[in-house]
Amino acid sequence: MGATTGRVLVVDDEPNARDALAELLADEGHDTRAAADGAEALELLEDYDPDVVLTDLKMPGVDGIELIERGRTLAPHAAFIVMTAFGTVETAVAAIKRGAENYLTKPLDMDTVSALVGRAMSRAQLSREAARLREQVDTRLSIGGVVGSHPSMQRLLKMVEQVARSRASVLIEGETGTGKELVAAAIHHASPRRDGPFVRLNCAALVESLLESELFGHERGAFTGAVSRRRGRFEQADGGTLFLDEVGEMGAATQVKLLRFLQEREFERVGGAETLRVDVRVVAATNRDLRRAVDEGHLREDLYYRLNVVRLEVPPLRARRSDVPALAHHFLRKHAEANGFEVQGFTDEALRALIAYPWPGNVRELENAVEHAVVLCEGRTIGLDALPELGRGRDDSGRHPGPADGLDARVPGLTLAEIERVAIERTLDAVGGSTAKAAELLGISQRKVQYRVKEWSEP
Ligand SMILES: Nc1ncnc2c1ncn2[C@@H]1O[C@H](COP(=O)(O)OP(=O)(O)OP(=O)(O)O)[C@@H](O)[C@H]1O
Ligand SMILES: [Mg+2]
Repeated sequence: MGATTGRVLVVDDEPNARDALAELLADEGHDTRAAADGAEALELLEDYDPDVVLTDLKMPGVDGIELIERGRTLAPHAAFIVMTAFGTVETAVAAIKRGAENYLTKPLDMDTVSALVGRAMSRAQLSREAARLREQVDTRLSIGGVVGSHPSMQRLLKMVEQVARSRASVLIEGETGTGKELVAAAIHHASPRRDGPFVRLNCAALVESLLESELFGHERGAFTGAVSRRRGRFEQADGGTLFLDEVGEMGAATQVKLLRFLQEREFERVGGAETLRVDVRVVAATNRDLRRAVDEGHLREDLYYRLNVVRLEVPPLRARRSDVPALAHHFLRKHAEANGFEVQGFTDEALRALIAYPWPGNVRELENAVEHAVVLCEGRTIGLDALPELGRGRDDSGRHPGPADGLDARVPGLTLAEIERVAIERTLDAVGGSTAKAAELLGISQRKVQYRVKEWSEP
């Protein structure tokens, strides 16, 4: 990789010095413009949007200091470097106080100029990139804080908007950490019930008897310990949305009661005779295959269909790798702000590693990795060394659950296509993503590996 190049604006009232400097910088591969004084520079700034401005301090009319002060709002990402005659360093220091990034003393030493311009350039471009991603994040935030530009996520978000208008039950499927709860909240916030409550219950966290009373409430004396009447989550969610997480983990009696609610919109509290009616929209989520739970007799088929009026699938992160940079910046900003750290971005190398990693724990794992890196990072940029987990995932695959781990237990149980996918993903992972090496190990053509990977990455 060569030195960073970009747009440089040279401002000096002395024509020979100005042109010589602009020419030298052009020879180094930069796009350069020149201005004869501060006023001319200010006119150029907005349109040209330079990465670096090299300006003389003493100029007629608008001088260097004023140029910096006014120019910073016109070109917010530009780095200003001032040039000052030998012996007038105090003025340079004043310029730095007004926001200049650095200063050079005249006569200029070209090596120092290149080095300073190169460094300022990288920083300016990083700030520009961060702003671009931030903007991208902000526009996506409109729908309940879900970041995702990958076609599969855009399709999902469009469906979220569509289903939000109705009261139809929604079933959200997806691996752990893919953002199912976030999608459920997005449905609520995009719906006409947004001002009503969003109530959540994890069905796997409670034993059957407690789950039933937690959902439907109980009357005083309904069971030992029921010392007073209690409203359940359905009553609490009246006028809003009830999010049932891990809905596959529900006992038979609760399933019957939930089914009745979904059909008749009514229920009784545990130990109660009064029939209650509430206006609640049910959104359920699961990270296991509910169809299989039906086939195995754990879940009533009629309930499955009632929950599954609309089915949304949140794709695993490895199938939407192009979203990794925006997500990583989103979490960087969140955790840098929470910790009061001035971390601004990732090195290219770190970003590449984040994109290449298969993320078995999906978005949650990415968020944890970024939080960890923000805390460990020493400068303003997160490098590869601040991301130790990813390295670990590669060298000792035993420690880190890969996407295929635990799936062995499901043979028999997986289709041949699923087994093929597991085999290819694991092999790719083991050889660091090289399709040629993976193909050799698997004894199939490289084209087949590439074709499959492409197929899985498409929505
Ligand atoms: N697209 C996204 N944009 C921004 N943040 C996300 C996105 N997806 C997930 N997150 C964040 O990642 C974390 C995990 O998401 P969430 O809890 O919704 O996952 P989940 O699918 O419900 O996981 P589990 O199956 O383990 O319950 C949360 O902090 C969530 O805010
Ligand atoms: Mg969840």
